[in-house]
Amino acid sequence: MKQLVSMTINGELHEVAIEPYRTLLDVLRTDIGLTGAKRGCDVGDCGACTVLMDGQPVNACLVLGVEADGAELLTIEGLAGLAPNGTALHPLQESFLDHGAAQCGFCTPGMLLAAKALLDTNPHPTEADVRFAIAGNICRCTGFTKIVEAILAVGASNSIGKHRGELGGHPPSSPLPPVTSGTAVGQKGAA
Ligand code: FES
Ligand code: FES
Repeated sequence: MKQLVSMTINGELHEVAIEPYRTLLDVLRTDIGLTGAKRGCDVGDCGACTVLMDGQPVNACLVLGVEADGAELLTIEGLAGLAPNGTALHPLQESFLDHGAAQCGFCTPGMLLAAKALLDTNPHPTEADVRFAIAGNICRCTGFTKIVEAILAVGASNSIGKHRGELGGHPPSSPLPPVTSGTAVGQKGAA
């Protein structure tokens, strides 16, 4: 039996009738038509489906659609809408372009949103902070270095500062050694 669920996605209110067993990723991609969140593993290992739910990065493949009832969501489709006046892209998107941090692009939506969640509460992260924040996001192309550099560059420029707190916070960072492969969603949630 379907349940009526309301969620604000990229600033727009959506009401959808969904079966309680369907994931948020499925709802976003199939019912809402937002396909920027990618289905990689569908089991919480790759981070390609990362969206921000009340400011926190979540793996949309592990969240039920009904759990998002009343939530405020940011998907990659909404990130450019947070760009400063007069610019077409969010500073993180610009920096990824400038640093060659996207190759095939499959991981990029999730990486960008994980990075935004970090910078919202930690606008000047260390490299360890950045690596921890994206520890649940796998990139098979870049070797991560360009991605880390791109995020650090935004932190250094402080251009993200004006976006702080727009969609909620992100728990404090903690130093960890570099990570080059995906981790469980629990670690992302703690990042
Ligand atoms: S598709 Fe959700 S973590 Fe891989
Ligand atoms: S750019 Fe291809 S997976 Fe990251």
